[in-house]
Amino acid sequence: MKIVSADNLSCPLDAMALVKTVDGKQFNCAAGHSFDIAKQGHVNLLSVQDKRSKDPGDSKDMVLARQRFLNGGIYNAVSDKLNTIIHEDIIARHSNAQYNVLDAGCGEGYYLDRFVRSLGAEDGLRGQDGTCAAIGMDISKHAVLSAAKRNRQNITWVVGTNRKPPVMQGSLDCIICMFGYPIYEAFAAALKPDGIIILVESGMGHLMELREIVYDDVRKQPPPDITTAEILGFTLQESYIYCGKSGALNKKQINDLLLMTPHFFKAKPEKRAHAARLETLNVTIDVSFRVLRRS
Ligand SMILES: C[S@@+](CC[C@H](N)C(=O)[O-])C[C@H]1O[C@@H](n2cnc3c(N)ncnc32)[C@H](O)[C@@H]1O
Repeated sequence: MKIVSADNLSCPLDAMALVKTVDGKQFNCAAGHSFDIAKQGHVNLLSVQDKRSKDPGDSKDMVLARQRFLNGGIYNAVSDKLNTIIHEDIIARHSNAQYNVLDAGCGEGYYLDRFVRSLGAEDGLRGQDGTCAAIGMDISKHAVLSAAKRNRQNITWVVGTNRKPPVMQGSLDCIICMFGYPIYEAFAAALKPDGIIILVESGMGHLMELREIVYDDVRKQPPPDITTAEILGFTLQESYIYCGKSGALNKKQINDLLLMTPHFFKAKPEKRAHAARLETLNVTIDVSFRVLRRS
């Protein structure tokens, strides 16, 4: 399968199609709004009206901690399962139309980069006909900058919000939302009629050993309710739980893991300090995958 540049970006101000200028320096819409492409290759399509704070989304420190942790390969099995789900969807469609995927809240791009690389892998879709275009979007400019450094060549990276993804309506086959914030109305509008949403979320036992250290009372919560998606016509097509162990994490990895999760901000300072002193920890990785399709 061939990977191509995304051709379905839209203007965040008037929703018209964005076209790259011949010199490759900007995206323009027909009404004359233009957006510079940064030298690292990404584009900022988050309008001031859609910004709810000065520096929205994950901070630079959180992004760098997540990147270091994920680069250690500890979540590779989670990424492999995501890739398998998308490969199966591509194959099931039997369509020559371009497969358009958006990672909504892509963070520093680990999962989307691994997905795009899997298309050319021998156990991926190397022999498959057709084309695929991938957009990675996050509201954090720090996340998108790191993501663009991972794979500038084959992925379109944008700063944008799940509340209003800057893509043409009805243009996406697949929206990935990993440990993120799904906005179902906006996702429904951006998807093709038979498009899918892949929700990847913490399972009840996820990072239990770390949570037991940073909280007095650990609650086992199921993945969030999907009633809003169901009201919009989505049905749960497939669900899957990946459960495994991280293996012995070292001090640096424990600190990165804490910093990349909401537990860092929710935990009391003395509990965080306790976690920071640990020399090693083996945590449970319990991740829920749900595939929603409009029927
Ligand atoms: C827990 S992180 C997960 C990142 C990535 N999906 C991963 O699993 O490595 C959540 C991400 O969502 C981003 N985010 C938060 N609100 C968002 C929004 N409204 N639109 C897009 N991204 C958002 C954050 O900046 C952060 O990068």
